[in-house]
Amino acid sequence: MQQHLTIVKHPLVQHKLTLMREKDTSTAVFRQLLREISQLLAYEVTHELPMTTREIETPMQEMDAPVLAGRKLALISILRAGNGLLDGMLELIPSARVGFVGLYRDEATLKPVQYYFKVPDQLAKRLVIVVDPMLATGNSSAAAVDLLKQAGATDIRFLCLLASPEGVARMKEAHPDVPIVTASLDDRLDEKGYILPGLGDAGDRMFGTK
Ligand code: URA
Repeated sequence: MQQHLTIVKHPLVQHKLTLMREKDTSTAVFRQLLREISQLLAYEVTHELPMTTREIETPMQEMDAPVLAGRKLALISILRAGNGLLDGMLELIPSARVGFVGLYRDEATLKPVQYYFKVPDQLAKRLVIVVDPMLATGNSSAAAVDLLKQAGATDIRFLCLLASPEGVARMKEAHPDVPIVTASLDDRLDEKGYILPGLGDAGDRMFGTK
């Protein structure tokens, strides 16, 4: 299994992330960068996928060539910002199955409440990659992983763009078996649960809402 936290320090990832953080980056550019960065992160999060070989013929000769072993991936987007990571990943892994988890925060209890849950069948047989750009308090991420485990998932990874130390600690406590892949471990959360230095509200920035 991968280590609990992997920070992808590749220069292309770090450069694109800096452009995304800048407050004057437009919605269109932010979205394009997110698409590109999601593919670079997908490369990292899938690097242990099981392989097999298939006999093929090149124009020169026969060979046993490496291919992905049969097990299909499930990509699970935590709504709504997860969808920004999903699009780029699906370009790279077009046969992946896709699911969605919708959670909102109850303002009285501050606990995440589920409003949507639709995931592929046979989760127990799939590698499940949960995507959400921001691992902030970790409450909704931990709740989403709880729901996926209840639905049968056993092999889960969590992919995000930015993580806070608080969110990583929360996930480690709730789900030590779920490796996290991120482009940056930022400094801390502010009093409203936003990541600092962060990039603001990822959903607003990618969808142009305020
Ligand atoms: N969600 C966001 O979109 N941004 C943060 O900084 C924290 C949570």
